[in-house]
Amino acid sequence: MKLNSQVDCPTTPMAHDVIPGLSKRQKSLPCKLLYDRRGSELFERICELPEYYVTRTERGIMEANIESIASAIGPDCQLVEFGSGNSSKTTFLLDHLETPKSYVPIDISRVHLLESARKLQQLYPDLDVLPIPGDFNSAIEIPVGPRPTDNRVVFFPGSTLGNLEEDEAFVFMGRIAKLVGPRGALLIGIDMKKPLEVLLPAYDDKAGVTAEFSLNMLQHINRELLADFDLDQFRHEAVWDEENNHIDISLVSLVDQVVTIGEEAFVFPEGERVAIEKSHKYTAEEFEHLAKDFDIKRVWSDEQDWFRVVLLQPRVG
Ligand code: AVJ
Repeated sequence: MKLNSQVDCPTTPMAHDVIPGLSKRQKSLPCKLLYDRRGSELFERICELPEYYVTRTERGIMEANIESIASAIGPDCQLVEFGSGNSSKTTFLLDHLETPKSYVPIDISRVHLLESARKLQQLYPDLDVLPIPGDFNSAIEIPVGPRPTDNRVVFFPGSTLGNLEEDEAFVFMGRIAKLVGPRGALLIGIDMKKPLEVLLPAYDDKAGVTAEFSLNMLQHINRELLADFDLDQFRHEAVWDEENNHIDISLVSLVDQVVTIGEEAFVFPEGERVAIEKSHKYTAEEFEHLAKDFDIKRVWSDEQDWFRVVLLQPRVG
């Protein structure tokens, strides 16, 4: 968990995320570094792009089915959201839930998180808003709040699960099952496999917002680790990996170059790729496999089955 945005020396937690990945033969950077303040803003712009069907489709499903979603969740819940961003999807859900007790937004972008939490608390004075800065791989203690309930529901929209590798996704699902317990539930958004003509433009839009979002990761590293990435010397690339069912996003070096991060130097030959993000697209079977510790209570989808919102309950025993 990163708690300050000041300039750090390369022995800080962030350096641990950056140096090892750039030292490997196939260079990579963790996708959570996309989300500094600017990155979170750019992601919000991505969500409104005509090519980015994800947010729109999920919103459509939520809107068309909100009554049945809310009644399936039931009264008096504690809503926990991983990767809450600006909580824009949550207000709609909160508006329809029966007497929710508390809301725990968890997000890596601290400033952004606290700001949205403050606004939300003003909007919902009867709800206890309990923000936690952190990434969803770190062990997080969820506060029970002043009005405890055993109906704890984790909301994980946007197919953010798709950013995790398969083994990480399994671990994450297992942790959620433990966290909510047999009386709680997981409400998760899952992006389904679909034609390439739809997938590729969603990750390489005409206006170049996604490219800017990717390149901003280098700016983030420059600022935090006193690195000297030249953003003009890299380009964003999104390709479909058919074998693994994911969009593979990289930054490609446009020239032979050397980048320094603190005391260390890294060589980037022209054409070299730095893997920065994977976005998994699920088949129904694949997701059922991932959710094997849960009972699938309900599935809501759109007409084309591009996206699913699924309510899962941990299986007892
Ligand atoms: C936040 C992980 C759901 O994979 O669609 C969007 C992130 N990256 N465009 C996705 C993202 C580039 C997004 N998730």
